[in-house]
Amino acid sequence: MITDIQDTATLEATRDFMPINGTDYIELYVSNSKQAAHFYKSAMGFQSLAYAGLETGETDRQSYVVVQDKIRLVLTSPLKSGTDIGRHIDQHGDGVKVVALWVNDATAAYETAIERGARSYMEPQVLTDEHGRVVKSGIYTYGETIHMFVERKDYDGVFMPGYEKWETPDYNPEPIGLKYVDHMVGNVALGKMNYWVEFYEKVMGFKQILSFDDNDISTEYTALMSKVMSNGNGRIKFPINEPAAGLKKSQVEEYLDFYEGEGIQHVAVATDDIIGTVTALKSRGIEFLRVPTTYYDTLIERVGHIDEDLEPLKELGILVDRDDEGYLLQIFTKPVEPRPTMFFEIIQRKGANSFGKGNFKALFEAIEREQELRGTL
Ligand code: FE2
Repeated sequence: MITDIQDTATLEATRDFMPINGTDYIELYVSNSKQAAHFYKSAMGFQSLAYAGLETGETDRQSYVVVQDKIRLVLTSPLKSGTDIGRHIDQHGDGVKVVALWVNDATAAYETAIERGARSYMEPQVLTDEHGRVVKSGIYTYGETIHMFVERKDYDGVFMPGYEKWETPDYNPEPIGLKYVDHMVGNVALGKMNYWVEFYEKVMGFKQILSFDDNDISTEYTALMSKVMSNGNGRIKFPINEPAAGLKKSQVEEYLDFYEGEGIQHVAVATDDIIGTVTALKSRGIEFLRVPTTYYDTLIERVGHIDEDLEPLKELGILVDRDDEGYLLQIFTKPVEPRPTMFFEIIQRKGANSFGKGNFKALFEAIEREQELRGTL
């Protein structure tokens, strides 16, 4: 059963207690920040933005910040042993540590969240330099993942105090059309989905806008359940998955095993031209999950008229789904690190506000074929 319980009046009412303007940045802890920055520039079209390291007074970490339209990634590695960053990478592999949320008042957001039961990661801190001030504060969400509140209304530098502009005059590959973070999905442990749904409701004022049970998301072998949480203005969407019983190990269990805990499963980034974006990504070496070409035999029957030609969609492996409001096009990369954990989704929305339910079965069968190859099904 798919349940749409969005209620405009209640979404409206939540706006005041935790207003969020959008995603501020996503920080990944990675084993080699320098090479990761090169990958995100070369393969995914990000641009050099900012840098922190020994040269800026950091003693234990190095971070590169890359940007594409509204998407900022911070890529952080330790500079020595015995750091929390290094321990995080040892346990989880490369992965998302921080989902930072852009707010007007990072102190109020923090105090509200703590009052409502959040666990503190960092009390509000005021950072200043010649470009102004940024206030940051942080709380824990699932696993070791952090939400950082970032207040930057009094700042006009490139990123934030502590970082210098990162200029690379000799190497700036073209952007490939990624525009903003559409949604970020978390995988949580068996029986924990509703716990985190309540966390986002109670602590952050989010509302559940969709739910999928194992009848929606199951194949012959594996199943999962998912609920989609959204903030008041709808700019932040966090689907939360938990594994459901199946004949074999589900992709969520595989993630939890290899990430050694709960965490971010995929980051969905939006484009206005998915054919152009995916063509560029493929030519730069990004690998995507493939569904069987028979998927396209019945596609138009299933989704009706679409503006795009079928042939390039079929050639690139782009999936299409329709809901009451319109349609969407989407495709998923293979994991972008050694462990079968985090991956990206590229999505183009043409009216649809949903998440591609009609593609779940074909997609999960494609994931199972990959699991089979890894021996983890
Ligand atoms: Fe997604």
